[in-house]
Amino acid sequence: MAVHRILKMGDPRLARMAQPVSAFDTPELQRLVMDMVDTMAAANGAGLAAPQIGVDLQVVVFGTGAPNPRYPDAPPIPRTVLINPVITPLGAEQTDDWEGCLSVPGLRAIVPRWQRVRYQGMDIMGRPLDREVDGFHARVVQHECDHLQGILYPMRIRDFSRFGFNEVLFPGLAPEDD
Ligand code: NI
Repeated sequence: MAVHRILKMGDPRLARMAQPVSAFDTPELQRLVMDMVDTMAAANGAGLAAPQIGVDLQVVVFGTGAPNPRYPDAPPIPRTVLINPVITPLGAEQTDDWEGCLSVPGLRAIVPRWQRVRYQGMDIMGRPLDREVDGFHARVVQHECDHLQGILYPMRIRDFSRFGFNEVLFPGLAPEDD
């Protein structure tokens, strides 16, 4: 088990365009994904992108298959490793909901996202992954894939009156520091 320190907003490694993965089913990729899953689990994250641990590759992990204590009202998302992702919005509908990020600890904001998306990419073995999802699942995928383009959710906020500290917005709900 290797839990990494999660980089915080302001670190230039979070602002890069991540590089595509070219070699699949390698020990290096296996180790990276295991470390990302361990790091996400230790932080109760809904997802984690490789740049958040300083790795400049297009790899995201998300979902635990079980309810998440940081988002107790959200439906569970299957545990997924997504590499070299492409997201396509399905329809024009956007929805607003609360969002946080392990790289922006302690804060939440209302962020607009596509309600329904298709995402395509590879799994760790290089097998294609192709899903159509909506709601919280779609939100999490969009958030994580934004990390691969150097975008953190505060850059998506439209209404800054609904950006604040978790402990103030959701008193009694917030575990630990986020
Ligand atoms: Ni994030």
